[in-house]
Amino acid sequence: MAAALQTNIRPVKFPATFRALTKQSSAPFRVRCVVASSGKKRYNITLLPGDGIGPEVVSIAKNVLQQAGSLEGVEFSFREMPIGGAALDLVGVPLPEETISAAKESDAVLLGAIGGYKWDNNEKHLRPEKGLLQLRAGLKVFANLRPATVLPQLVDASTLKREVAEGVDLMVVRELTGGIYFGEPRGIKTNENGEEVGFNTEVYAAHEIDRIARVAFETARKRRGKLCSVDKANVLDASVLWRKRVTALASEYPDVELSHMYVDNAAMQLVRDPKQFDTIVTNNIFGDILSDEASMITGSIGMLPSASLSDAGPGLFEPIHGSAPDIAGQDKANPLATILSAAMLLKYGLGEEKAAKRIEDAVLVALNNGFRTGDIYSAGTKLVGCKKMGEEVLKSVDSQVPASV
Ligand code: IPM
Ligand code: MG
Repeated sequence: MAAALQTNIRPVKFPATFRALTKQSSAPFRVRCVVASSGKKRYNITLLPGDGIGPEVVSIAKNVLQQAGSLEGVEFSFREMPIGGAALDLVGVPLPEETISAAKESDAVLLGAIGGYKWDNNEKHLRPEKGLLQLRAGLKVFANLRPATVLPQLVDASTLKREVAEGVDLMVVRELTGGIYFGEPRGIKTNENGEEVGFNTEVYAAHEIDRIARVAFETARKRRGKLCSVDKANVLDASVLWRKRVTALASEYPDVELSHMYVDNAAMQLVRDPKQFDTIVTNNIFGDILSDEASMITGSIGMLPSASLSDAGPGLFEPIHGSAPDIAGQDKANPLATILSAAMLLKYGLGEEKAAKRIEDAVLVALNNGFRTGDIYSAGTKLVGCKKMGEEVLKSVDSQVPASV
């Protein structure tokens, strides 16, 4: 960012949702938005295309973001940086220093996907996944919001019966920077019998539970007012503390109805009767698993975006699907999860609700017009590739017509 522009730095007015999400933070969240000479607001976005289908879907989402922004008086400066396998190939580490610095300096980060067969046998610290985990830790994005909504247009793409899937609209709030993903001690060692032993540690400090629980209570409050905390408190000590802290906070949110569920039961209930859920809050590993499960209710993991937020600093926005190396570079990927992640970037990351709404509506219009990538195709709809789907969304971004469902 040019030095001259730095003097124009000003805080952005945030939507109530975001202000509420960050209410507890000691340092107020500031987006380094500047007003350019054109009179438009300008944001710096770091793009991390990554591996597999990542580059295809990110390049489409970038165009959509740019178009939605320009229609709402918002400009973007994009900076593309390597992560994951792409970074390993380029500089030998999965998260180069330059990449994390660029991400921290920007207003928001849009990530594609990481990983692929090529790096599957790499040592642990040289795996693409390590780059993503380091990025989440570096940006301190502890709150991962993963919505799973069954769109009326896609009910038949769900593997569940229509009456079970129809109308599902839930949000998984996943703790993202703690728990067994990061806990110490961890490793593989040889025990006294000469046998190899692998071990990890599920560990949560009270403040980590409290801050994710607050985000979840606030999220539930703005939805249908129901929060289900998922744990394994019948077996795990870390879950006993989790349940105790979440329960203790409930009195601060009398308008939210709190319930608790063991994770094995939650996995079953999600496919038995997913409509019973509004907001789910859970730890890192359970959130990883349950959000994949929830995504399938909606028809395809190719539809689901996510937002990862810290209490101060840029958010990280990424589709929840992986790099799908089997279809990479074949123009078969579904770009909608990344496009919808760009909408979350606008809404939760920058407070640009109008531009976000344009993108969400444009996705509905493309679906209403019958366009489907392979993962969401059903008889009678039009099978298209990644690029064509992107073009259809792009065309509809400037449509003022509300998407009818
Ligand atoms: C996800 C992914 C990641 C995770 C992997 C790629 C490290 O599965 O975002 O859900 O386990 O968090
Ligand atoms: Mg996952």
